[in-house]
Amino acid sequence: MDITFASSLPADAMLVAHVVNRGDAPAGLEPVLVEGARAARFKGGAGQLFEGFVERGGKIVRVALSGAGEGDAADRGINCEKAGAAIAGKYLCSGETAVVLDLTGSGLSAAEAASVLFGLRLRSWRYDAYRTRMKDEQKKTLAGVTVVGAPDGTEDAWAKEAALAEGVEFARVLAAEPPNLLYPVEFVARCEKALAGTGVEIVVLDDAEMEKLGMGSLLGVGLGSERDSRLLCMKWMGGNPGDRPTAFVGKGVTFDTGGISLKPGPGMEDMKWDMGGAGAVAGAMVALALRKAKANIIGVCGLVENMPDGRAQRPGDIVTSMSGQTIEVLNTDAEGRLVLCDALTWTQQQFDPVAVVDFATLTGAMIIALGNEHGGLFSNDDTLAERLLSAGQATGDKLWRFPLSPAYDKLIDSPIADMKNVGPRGAGSITAAQFLQRFIDKDRPWAHCDIAGMVWADKPGQTWDKGATGYGVRIMDRYVRDVLEG
Ligand code: BES
Ligand code: MN
Ligand code: ZN
Repeated sequence: MDITFASSLPADAMLVAHVVNRGDAPAGLEPVLVEGARAARFKGGAGQLFEGFVERGGKIVRVALSGAGEGDAADRGINCEKAGAAIAGKYLCSGETAVVLDLTGSGLSAAEAASVLFGLRLRSWRYDAYRTRMKDEQKKTLAGVTVVGAPDGTEDAWAKEAALAEGVEFARVLAAEPPNLLYPVEFVARCEKALAGTGVEIVVLDDAEMEKLGMGSLLGVGLGSERDSRLLCMKWMGGNPGDRPTAFVGKGVTFDTGGISLKPGPGMEDMKWDMGGAGAVAGAMVALALRKAKANIIGVCGLVENMPDGRAQRPGDIVTSMSGQTIEVLNTDAEGRLVLCDALTWTQQQFDPVAVVDFATLTGAMIIALGNEHGGLFSNDDTLAERLLSAGQATGDKLWRFPLSPAYDKLIDSPIADMKNVGPRGAGSITAAQFLQRFIDKDRPWAHCDIAGMVWADKPGQTWDKGATGYGVRIMDRYVRDVLEG
């Protein structure tokens, strides 16, 4: 989506959109539109859209009124995104190729105007790379937005949000790519390409290097795959040179068959997005680097493919993690924690981060608990947890906190090794988090986000079509803005 700013309404504008607050009579509009909106019960609710046709300067013009909700709502930014998203949702495949967003008299602030554009851009993302036989009415037509009447400062505010949109879209592409084409080595290549020239430093560990470091847990998961595993580290040092970094760590299982503990066939294709945590971390690095965030951030992705094979690990195997702790692998489908634990150990040893936050599509149990409305948050630090919860609230990538405690931790003790990789049936998401906590240094603020239900959507939402959502990128970006740059 090409977004440009202009000082006056283009003479050839055929589609003009206005943003309207709830209850406000749309100022300066033709009576026929005002009356039409009233008759259609258009009230300016967030995401509500009314369309009419009027004659302007001797031409028939298509006019959209898009609602932004209450002018003073706490979630005003999100409501403005919905106003932009509604325009994209309505006209994306309409045959219209350009829309003029006329913000004259809208009363929006620069930040709110940027939010409208952000919603419009995010909602217009769709991945058609592999669709070669689309009918005309299926094709995306809307390609450009011209903004007129924007409040002062909108262009600067938008530049920052455009960087974030870039990051969200990158995360979505990674999640949407099929698993035959996106495997660990290719994931790394995509990140190298996306981050080239941004100033992000990239370090990649291959199987042999990880072997040398003793990452027996991560490597064990990749044993059944023909594809090599990788540990990807992306370093953005935009803050004070002496400041210890904050680390984001992602689960990047490019396909999860379950391994020898094979998953049932129906729905297994969903496991192509089992790299959604890593995708979100990579997307966040793109966003932070493009907007030149004044913060030191490390992004680490543990990348493997979990396949059943003659060389695959078996239920009952015992592996030794980089931390030295041994793990009895009772279920090869509980592989995410096996990947993350070594990634977490390496990250802490390498960077001594002030805080570590991991993102992972870790447990199906998370979806049972929260559905597709919240990611699950687990943390050993109340301040960190509060900050992540507010970042989620502010961006709409919502989180909900779950408990950790020694009583849950006990459930993963093993009679033959230091721990087992699965607990009993109950509290599956919590025992998974307890497992990760065993690899977190004492006194290190850490949070785990189980985003199993959030990476992919079966139906369109406010700022996404059905498919990859890019969930998590905005949490990290917002956390950096509010906590590290604020
Ligand atoms: N990647 C899955 C979790 C998942 C399931 C994410 C469905 C998204 C949708 C994970 O690796 C897994 O298989 N977890 C097991 C753990 C169990 C064996 C303890 C699960 O949730 O069933
Ligand atoms: Mn699994
Ligand atoms: Zn998995």
